Amino acid sequence: MTATATTAADLRAALVRQLTADPDGGLTDPLWRAAAAAVPREAFVGDYFREIPGSVPTSYEPVLADDEGGLETVYSNRTLITQLDGRIRPADAHGPTAGAPSSSSTLPSLVLGMWQRLDVRSGHRVLEIGTGTGYSTALGAHRLGEENIVSVEVDPGVAERAATALKTAGYTPHLVVGDGLAGHGARAPYDRLIATCAVRTLPYPWLHQVRPGGKILVTFSGWQFGYGLALLTVTGPGEAFGRFLPGHISFMIARPHDRPPRQSPTLLPGDERATRIDPATITDWTGAWVAQLAAPSAERIGTGDQQILIDHATGSQARTRPDGHGGWTVVQRGPLRLWDRVEDAITAWQTAGSPHQERFGITITSEGQRVWLGNEHGPSWLLPL
Ligand SMILES: C[S@@+](CC[C@H](N)C(=O)[O-])C[C@H]1O[C@@H](n2cnc3c(N)ncnc32)[C@H](O)[C@@H]1O
Repeated sequence: MTATATTAADLRAALVRQLTADPDGGLTDPLWRAAAAAVPREAFVGDYFREIPGSVPTSYEPVLADDEGGLETVYSNRTLITQLDGRIRPADAHGPTAGAPSSSSTLPSLVLGMWQRLDVRSGHRVLEIGTGTGYSTALGAHRLGEENIVSVEVDPGVAERAATALKTAGYTPHLVVGDGLAGHGARAPYDRLIATCAVRTLPYPWLHQVRPGGKILVTFSGWQFGYGLALLTVTGPGEAFGRFLPGHISFMIARPHDRPPRQSPTLLPGDERATRIDPATITDWTGAWVAQLAAPSAERIGTGDQQILIDHATGSQARTRPDGHGGWTVVQRGPLRLWDRVEDAITAWQTAGSPHQERFGITITSEGQRVWLGNEHGPSWLLPL
């Protein structure tokens, strides 16, 4: 055994001990613990990007696999970004690079925590959306058998590297290059579906490819930085019922669900009035989620109490600012009164005691996808179709 192999095994064992001891739940399932102890993360993460603290816009420096300390980083409980803007890899960057993360190896505690939450049993067949580096795919293949794992990745280059890494590590699950929002009907039905990219709305093909009684674990997101991880049970073809889970989990959004590109917005005059809520409320973890439910095609820009909402569907705008007397005003323009909707939703949420996402649930039928607060008769909002 080489010195590197010994070190990697030691570091892997130490990471498993750390994840097992985590007071917030941790790696409690012995079968997932065995998978974590067996899968070599260094086979999946070579070069990566490290965020440069305080950089505006956020920039990253490339770290190459053989840089000093690389193996320790691979076995730290961190997300390692492996691609920016859907094309830039660490090896392509020559110094600090700005961009939006578009592929990564998600932090091991989250990957394993999600697998645990998916409630899989031996023999289950799983569809994974977002192969990424292939690390989570390898964990699934180790636990359930590679014949029971199908994984879809939209980016051909990312998919090719994952396929090579999986093969090197000794796993050959069924890999698909394509848009995971279409699922993979050829190998359906599945008992479980796990997505490591977020969606604005649940793709209906998933609800026909996962068998009734099967489960789907996915993060819902949007263009206002709101996130909610949900565990749904398929109740019939095209139908599901789910609850949102505790925690603060975010994922990069599925590429077809990303916001349309835009230039710097031109802010136009409109109707001005006093606001009923502090605009900074929509920067809160759940506040952002509620505002996004209320205005699902709007993008949020701005900081603190100076917020700007731009609606991609209608061009409507809303922008807030302090009024100089301890309150705030909002200027609204366009057919959608964005701020009226956000205020109504935030007020309903505050009336319920401002609970975390775990008090929300979702009901999906062929007619639509409704997120509700408390129970199905509580305040609710339709997701965009
Ligand atoms: C957070 S990474 C996945 C992490 C991965 N599970 C791992 O352990 O390395 C998200 C991945 O989802 C992929 N993705 C985004 N949109 C997708 C889509 N529509 N279908 C399939 N994959 C998609 C991205 O290219 C990216 O590689």
